[in-house]
Amino acid sequence: MSEIDYLYEWFQGYVKAYYTGDKFVMDRVLLKEAHSKRVAAISASLAAYLGLDDRQTLLAEVIGLVHDLSRFRQVTEYRTFVDAESFDHGDAGAEEFAHSGMLAGFTDDELGMIRFAITNHNKMLIPPAGPQHELFAKIIRDADKLDIFRILPPIQANHDYSPKLISQLKTGGVLSYTDVKTMADKRLIRLSWFYDIYFDWTLAKLVAEGHLERQLAALPDTGDCVVIKETMKAYISNSLSSLP
Ligand SMILES: [Fe+2]
Repeated sequence: MSEIDYLYEWFQGYVKAYYTGDKFVMDRVLLKEAHSKRVAAISASLAAYLGLDDRQTLLAEVIGLVHDLSRFRQVTEYRTFVDAESFDHGDAGAEEFAHSGMLAGFTDDELGMIRFAITNHNKMLIPPAGPQHELFAKIIRDADKLDIFRILPPIQANHDYSPKLISQLKTGGVLSYTDVKTMADKRLIRLSWFYDIYFDWTLAKLVAEGHLERQLAALPDTGDCVVIKETMKAYISNSLSSLP
């Protein structure tokens, strides 16, 4: 059995331990199982695009597979994916990985990079850690966002936005979840993710698949939202104009 096949088999066994007759939990376990596998595939494609070698591509794929490892325990124990109501699923995932049966075959250096990527896939920013560690954290963050944009349902809410988030987004930048006060604010958070994409490959896919257009269309064409849209469009076209 190849190393990657073994890792998928290990992951499958890990997830199956959370299968349950409780439909609420089971639906969410299956959702995260499918998400993890898709993110693994996206990560491998992105790694290949970046010209990484076979070993690095395998690492990127593994990180994609295990980045949400703690989600299964989270929804089983807390019946939610909201970190603020349970635990930080990046920190918990890195901890679970560190005690998993998946460690054989990785060097200490590789294990450090995997843990760093899991820990920081859901943080506001990647803390400085050197180019190798940061590379894999960037790959998982992009791959995760691409898959999330593909499956996100629209937010059902009015246009009651918090002034702080509006003013931050007008100048372009990543927003903090802790500033979310209304349902509508989540639209602004989603839009701000476009400022947190690291690779042109991902940005080009997000635009080509219509996700940017869809998120922009969710905001009204009035007042500050017009500025937010124009700032975003200028940022995106500037980023993509450097593409070959
Ligand atoms: Fe996650």
